Amino acid sequence: MASTTRHRPPRAVSIAARLGQSRVGSRLEGEVRVTAADLVDSVAEARLKVAAVRYKVESEVRNKTQKLRSRVSEAKAKLGDEARFIKSWIDDPLRTGSVTPSSPALARRMASFVDPQKPGPVIEIGPGTGPVTEALIERGIGEERLVLVEYSPEFCDLLRKRFPRATVVQGDAYALSTTLAGHLEEKAIALVSSLPLFNRPPATRTALAREAFPLMVEGAPFIQFTYSVISPIPRKGSGLKAFVSDWVLRNIPPARVWVYRQAN
Ligand SMILES: C[S@@+](CC[C@H](N)C(=O)[O-])C[C@H]1O[C@@H](n2cnc3c(N)ncnc32)[C@H](O)[C@@H]1O
Repeated sequence: MASTTRHRPPRAVSIAARLGQSRVGSRLEGEVRVTAADLVDSVAEARLKVAAVRYKVESEVRNKTQKLRSRVSEAKAKLGDEARFIKSWIDDPLRTGSVTPSSPALARRMASFVDPQKPGPVIEIGPGTGPVTEALIERGIGEERLVLVEYSPEFCDLLRKRFPRATVVQGDAYALSTTLAGHLEEKAIALVSSLPLFNRPPATRTALAREAFPLMVEGAPFIQFTYSVISPIPRKGSGLKAFVSDWVLRNIPPARVWVYRQAN
């Protein structure tokens, strides 16, 4: 009969036992335990470090992706505005007056002549896609203080979406008091105009200023940009004092801003 030999696993024998319970053996065993514990600690520490680095890298990637996404959507919006402008210009070149929206630099220069500390509404005529509106808000004029008069229904729809708390009035800025009837609760502290004034005869431009000033508080500015070298509001006999800015070169084409006030 064949005998079966079983292989038993070797019994775990402590270092101290193998070294005959000597003092050296116990010390060695203690040291091995300490080293093993140190190793476990080091591994845990390394894991924590790896997790921290991973978290940092992940949040940096997330931030960069978010920034990139918002840049892409800004660029898309800008391209959309350019396209809307070109379409509007093709439909009605004289009324649109420009093939491209004003640059942020020109819009900021216009807004810089409005004092945000003065309480009361601000009228904007010819806001188009809203670059000047945005600059006014950036300057510190609350959206709800803005009364926007725009002729194009398409631009009005866009403005209502972009500035839901502003008052958007679709109508003719050259008949300002009629267009604003019921929309202006108190006199305005400023009027900002981007109308292509030179497409209208001098008498119409003079009439616009005459109609605008009674809708504003005393000393309020009528702010107008132009690509031309001469004053868009005829000055002779107007009773207006005027200031003109230097050329804003970061705009296509370069433009200047005229600020008119009643001379009294
Ligand atoms: C030169 S674009 C300026 C648009 C915008 N403010 C900018 O700076 O990019 C002139 C704007 O005035 C508007 N507009 C022209 N005639 C108007 C009128 N009689 N009443 C109201 N808006 C008018 C046009 O539809 C257009 O949006």
